Amino acid sequence: MATSGRRAGLLRFGAALAPLSLLAACGGGGGDPADYPEDNIEIIVPFAAGGPTDTVTRLITEPMAEELGVELVVQNVEGAGGTVAAGQVAEAEADGYTVLMHHIGMSTAPTLYPDLDFAPEEDFKTVGLVTEVPMTVIARKDFEPTTLEELAAYVEENADTVTLANAGIGSASHLCGVLMQQAMGVEVQEVPYDGTGPAMEDLVGGQVDFLCDQTTNTSQQISEGTVKAYAVTTPEPVESLPDLPTAAEAGLPDLEVTVWHGLYVPAETPDEIVEKLTSALQTALQDQGVIDQMADLGTAPVAQDQATPDAHSELLSAEIDKWSEVLSGIQAE
Ligand code: MLT
Repeated sequence: MATSGRRAGLLRFGAALAPLSLLAACGGGGGDPADYPEDNIEIIVPFAAGGPTDTVTRLITEPMAEELGVELVVQNVEGAGGTVAAGQVAEAEADGYTVLMHHIGMSTAPTLYPDLDFAPEEDFKTVGLVTEVPMTVIARKDFEPTTLEELAAYVEENADTVTLANAGIGSASHLCGVLMQQAMGVEVQEVPYDGTGPAMEDLVGGQVDFLCDQTTNTSQQISEGTVKAYAVTTPEPVESLPDLPTAAEAGLPDLEVTVWHGLYVPAETPDEIVEKLTSALQTALQDQGVIDQMADLGTAPVAQDQATPDAHSELLSAEIDKWSEVLSGIQAE
């Protein structure tokens, strides 16, 4: 897929490493798992603030913190479609004070990044799944096509000039973009950002043409009419976006993808610590405020039996296999 950089996530090892090491220096590590947690916990979001991953994370941090009795401090570590952050958390101290929030990108990274510096199934312990978010195909509000079918025809005719935003190779928006281009039978210019928070700013500003992004980031713009919306990428319509057809209903049956999110800790983290994090996650996912806010944003917490390390590991493994087939031949440069 042709990609060119603009606001592409620079590898901010320097800046990003500082917060992780800073926390360790604040005595976030090394205590007795039975006493965990005794200090604030850093929860790493692998995309820029204001995007869908950041939004989902901030929805659950407060109720999790209430159960754990410490603060969960959100830290955005951008770059390379989420792989910079994942690589750093894999290397972090396995003391429960560094937790990663990531999504379907954890399962596409092994295929897209041949030289990945971590192995999702070996270098992490899964804590539990959080939510599975629908995606929406949207465009700048003055974009000519008014239906998904017209969009496909327009993109085919103007493949050399239209611009498709994403959050970098390996992001969910990149994955949806790949599926959309495959379904449309075209290749367009991709414009990578540090997250779909900044990508949305450019879309609303008219600097980029279209984007496939999660309802947790697009619902407000769609309801306010600051973007043009064509379809959702789920098999069934999304209750909070009743006017949007599914991609299948709108003529692109092969465009079906949802973005599952989960929490991870470094592989050597004691099970007793993982259990406390899983329990706090399960409590957060039953919090009425979390349920209501997720519903407003077109999604819902996973069922309690999915907010477990085993269910999360099973899905991760199956998705790594699935996407290795679909994405074979596409690799980050
Ligand atoms: C993505 O994968 O597209 C990310 O969810 C974007 C983001 O969270 O900013």
